[in-house]
Amino acid sequence: MNTLKLWMTAIGFSLSLVVSATEGMWMVAFLNRVQHAEMNNLGLKLTPEEIYSINQACLKDAIVRLNYGGCTGEVVSSKGLIFTNHHCAYDGIQTLSTVNKNYLQDGFCAKSFDEELPIPNFAISFLVRVENVTEEVLSVATIGMAEADRDKAIAAKMKEISGRNKENGKYEPEVKSFFYGNEYYLFVYQTFTDIRLVGNPPESVGKFGGDTDNWMWPRHTGDFSMIRIYANEKNEPAAYSVNNRPYEPKYHLKTNMQGVEEGDYAMIMGYPGRTSRYLTSFGIDQAINGRNPALIESFGKKLETWKSFMDKDAEVRLMYAAKYASIANTWKYYIGQTQGLKKLDVRSKKAAIENKFTEWVKGDAKRQDQYGNALGLIKDYHNEWDSQVVLATYSALCLSGGAEFMGYANALNKELKALLDEKDPGKRAEMKEALKNERAEFWKEYNANVDKGVFINLIQLFRERVAAEQQPSWMKDILDKKFKGNVQKMADEIFLKSLAISESAFNAFLAEPEQKTLTKDLGLQIAAASATFTDEIRAKNPTSKFNKGYREFVAGYREMEKRPLAPDANSTMRVTYGQIKNYKAADALIYDYYTTSNGILEKWDDTNPEFTVPSELIKLLQSKDYGPYANKKGELVTCFIGDLDITGGNSGSPVMDANGNLIGIAFDGNWEAMSGDIAYEKDLQRTICVDIRYVLFIVDKLMGGKNIVDELTYYRPAPVVSAPTPANIQEVQTPKEPLENKNNNADSPKKEGTKNNKPKN
Ligand code: ARG
Repeated sequence: MNTLKLWMTAIGFSLSLVVSATEGMWMVAFLNRVQHAEMNNLGLKLTPEEIYSINQACLKDAIVRLNYGGCTGEVVSSKGLIFTNHHCAYDGIQTLSTVNKNYLQDGFCAKSFDEELPIPNFAISFLVRVENVTEEVLSVATIGMAEADRDKAIAAKMKEISGRNKENGKYEPEVKSFFYGNEYYLFVYQTFTDIRLVGNPPESVGKFGGDTDNWMWPRHTGDFSMIRIYANEKNEPAAYSVNNRPYEPKYHLKTNMQGVEEGDYAMIMGYPGRTSRYLTSFGIDQAINGRNPALIESFGKKLETWKSFMDKDAEVRLMYAAKYASIANTWKYYIGQTQGLKKLDVRSKKAAIENKFTEWVKGDAKRQDQYGNALGLIKDYHNEWDSQVVLATYSALCLSGGAEFMGYANALNKELKALLDEKDPGKRAEMKEALKNERAEFWKEYNANVDKGVFINLIQLFRERVAAEQQPSWMKDILDKKFKGNVQKMADEIFLKSLAISESAFNAFLAEPEQKTLTKDLGLQIAAASATFTDEIRAKNPTSKFNKGYREFVAGYREMEKRPLAPDANSTMRVTYGQIKNYKAADALIYDYYTTSNGILEKWDDTNPEFTVPSELIKLLQSKDYGPYANKKGELVTCFIGDLDITGGNSGSPVMDANGNLIGIAFDGNWEAMSGDIAYEKDLQRTICVDIRYVLFIVDKLMGGKNIVDELTYYRPAPVVSAPTPANIQEVQTPKEPLENKNNNADSPKKEGTKNNKPKN
């Protein structure tokens, strides 16, 4: 009944306002009445305060930001255990692995706290509170102020506001712009840095399907990993110490083993990174014709080069695993985005919005005054900048940010110059020490042979794509004059002699620092000149036109639409809600809303490294030994989808049921809607999640992590007819083991939230 009503409202809504019921990554702290009513209609059983509150423990206290916004995680036990994606801990797992003890390849599972492995450079933040500071921030912007002055005044104000909310360093405050400079919010975080690896499946489970299946449905990837927050004896953040102990969270999610069915309510909370839903038709042209093809080609060349080395050498394969996965993910994203933008004709949809906007503005003198220049400014920006976009992209991705050498050598060159300028012998000694440490750190994940290949290939690509008169002067002065245009020869000399590569040259410089050594070092010179070249192109970007134009366009658009619109994602906590739902991917092609382990056996291919399956897993699956993790039909559900609105940064976010219990972990989007970050595709766009029962099946049966299965708290649905008796509890499809777990309790989050609501410090 409720659903029917909702559908009727949704249809009515969409006809009049062209809105999808599920578009929107909403700010958790400011859920408005429309959203909450919609959530209730879809099945939500929680109050806004149970989602976000500063007075009581609530869902937001169980949602964490990883590494300042790369990914999301959720607290799932009273001992600070976090679930996230495999691909979110990938870099950390790689760092902890060696060719002989390869946790990335073989998996890892700590059987007790003292077996957990500290992950270097990992940060987990809790959101303490959010405050609307729009009025204060915008009080420094006066009408008619030049954009540059406005930017400066606002930046200073933002800094001042964060500064006074640090509470003596206890918190990390951050002021962020929303709706392109129309609103500002303060986010206060508490950040923990003693983070340890608890467990991860082997890569053949955690990344099953590899880059072939990435961004695609149907999916069979066990994309999860487990980490733990450690705190000092006061339960506060502290640097790694053997004396630290598992963090006791304010709130943790309960795990729901009931599984999902089509039409079920679902919601996701997390840290989506970036969307561009307000992009104009001109922006689409820029992406399709300018940036994307150049980006795809540059990243493609880098990947191809890396792969040729990785295929030959196990050490290189491990060393470059995370770098490769990250670029491959972005590369495929942009291929999909470009296809989607074209195929779904997003440009026309945007142009229609702009026409409507123009008409609306014309209808009223005040609107003309406020918004009359908005689209003109955006057009001017594109007229001035779009001709530079291809050059800017190739320069950034093939030169200054191409080979790792370029970025490293440019930074090193600056530091070595600073060393030359430093007169104080004590400070000089300190700087030398720091330089040596930095070098050692860099070389831990650097292979000069591999990078030399990238250096050559990307410079060559740049020369093929960019007209001679647009190329940086070093190409004529050094590459052409000295090496007759032979990039290989130039690379041979640089990778032999440059002090960014040669340790003996580096040490010789530190022993006797001289400016002329730097000037003669071709590698340093080329790296510095390439960075300057990219900066100079970027400096031509008329950003002030873009910024002012968008600020006014978005303000006007919101006023015109008269309905709540979600702000673009900006790495702040959001909630998205919707339903578990299948989709029609193409004519006559309907994709089911869930996959099962049968698909793993169907895709299994020992001749393809992306589709190998651990032999123990094959045995478990062939014998259908699913234990308590099967669904009612006796299947082992691996992944499922819903029409939830997420983007990169949401990776690892909890997928929750109507009571806020954990049913899965979000990890991807689908190929048919890759332009979704620019225009949400109501009928096509789905979020791909790994089912929590598959996660626990792998943890329990493949990884031997019974300790972890027992550590979770399980949700047990209240019986519908009679009071619970041992007999009818047994009928419920939950694992036997967890049901016996002493942590188990059947409270709703509401009750537990209240119970656990004691400040910890
Ligand atoms: N597409 C996913 C995301 O951006 C990442 C998946 C990682 N897996 C992979 N095969 N690279 O969140």
